[in-house]
Amino acid sequence: MKFSKRIADVPPSATFRYASLAKREGIINLTIGRPGFDPPSVVIEAAKRALEGGKHHYGPSKGIPELREKISERLTRENKIRGIDSEKVIVSMGAKNILYEIIMTLVDRGTKVAIPDPAWVSYESMVKLAEGEVVWLPLNSERGFVPDEEFIDALDHSEAKIVIINTPNNPTGAVYPERVLRDIIAVAEANDMWIISDECYESIVYEGKHFSIGSVYDKTITVGSFSKTYSMTGWRLGYAACPEFEVIDKMNILQQQSVSNPVTFAQYGALACFTPEAQKFSREMREELKRRRDYALKRVSEFACECMKPNGAFYIFPYFEGRDDIKMADAVLEEGVGVVPGSPFGKQGRGCIRLSYGSAKVEELAEAFDRMERVKGIA
Ligand SMILES: Cc1ncc(COP(=O)(O)O)c(C=O)c1O
Repeated sequence: MKFSKRIADVPPSATFRYASLAKREGIINLTIGRPGFDPPSVVIEAAKRALEGGKHHYGPSKGIPELREKISERLTRENKIRGIDSEKVIVSMGAKNILYEIIMTLVDRGTKVAIPDPAWVSYESMVKLAEGEVVWLPLNSERGFVPDEEFIDALDHSEAKIVIINTPNNPTGAVYPERVLRDIIAVAEANDMWIISDECYESIVYEGKHFSIGSVYDKTITVGSFSKTYSMTGWRLGYAACPEFEVIDKMNILQQQSVSNPVTFAQYGALACFTPEAQKFSREMREELKRRRDYALKRVSEFACECMKPNGAFYIFPYFEGRDDIKMADAVLEEGVGVVPGSPFGKQGRGCIRLSYGSAKVEELAEAFDRMERVKGIA
């Protein structure tokens, strides 16, 4: 079989690969990009009621109106996103599918898309699948991977039609301050660029405040997810909102021709994410994740590495000068801990490893760090 050039050019996801290597008996798995909690019980109960109440069938392609209404209300009230209503919101199978639809909607062969380096692995692959061209914007570990003048300058000279911004960040855990985001917006505005603002981790901020780009810049497509905020990764629910209706409308064409609609009963369950009980769950989960972040940071600071404090998400991304990150991840796995090497996230990730504390309790983290200390050159 001769496969399409499109698929031949795209590697399998590195995070999936390292996650499957870490599934062996006895391995402490710090590769997982998810919080290890059950979703709020109100949400589970609501989904059960939906199933018992006959919500088994196809639904509207953009998502059920009740859920789009709730999302648009929250984005307007809390994120202060301007100019949206429920018609300017689309729900799909996770933020991943949403991002894929956005890129397929806006990117032609050769369209330039600016992506921070390092970044979540799928952005580059999605742009390649759309035959677009990636322009990398370098981030540096000594700046805690927060955009600096070099980044802003690279963006200004990128000739990109679109820039993807992700804060709080995967893989670095960085939370970009408002003033940095305003600098990015100024460059985007001057160059008539669209911003895809991936805000999947918006609820997991320990220090500082989350700032939504769409609150001040209308050429923004805001992306959100139920996956991390409510620990619902398997429910596959994410969304996009944009003041320009046509963007959402065109994404909806892709949706109709691919997945048809997001899972109906899951959406009825997700309606309960807007209750006080679910909000409390999300706050408590953040508190627990903060305890883990504090512990992991303390232990990482004993390593021979450079690591700024990550203020959000649930990743730590230490940099080991002069080290080969792939060999380091393999050596760490030999000692019984699964981590993801930094280079699949981009050139600037070389020498780094990504540790996820989302699914490991403090006791497991303690054992994982004890094991990692045995790896030559890390401690
Ligand atoms: C930065 C980022 N964006 C998007 C996603 C996709 O999330 P989901 O498809 O589960 O909503 C992830 C998942 O790991 C992520 O880390």
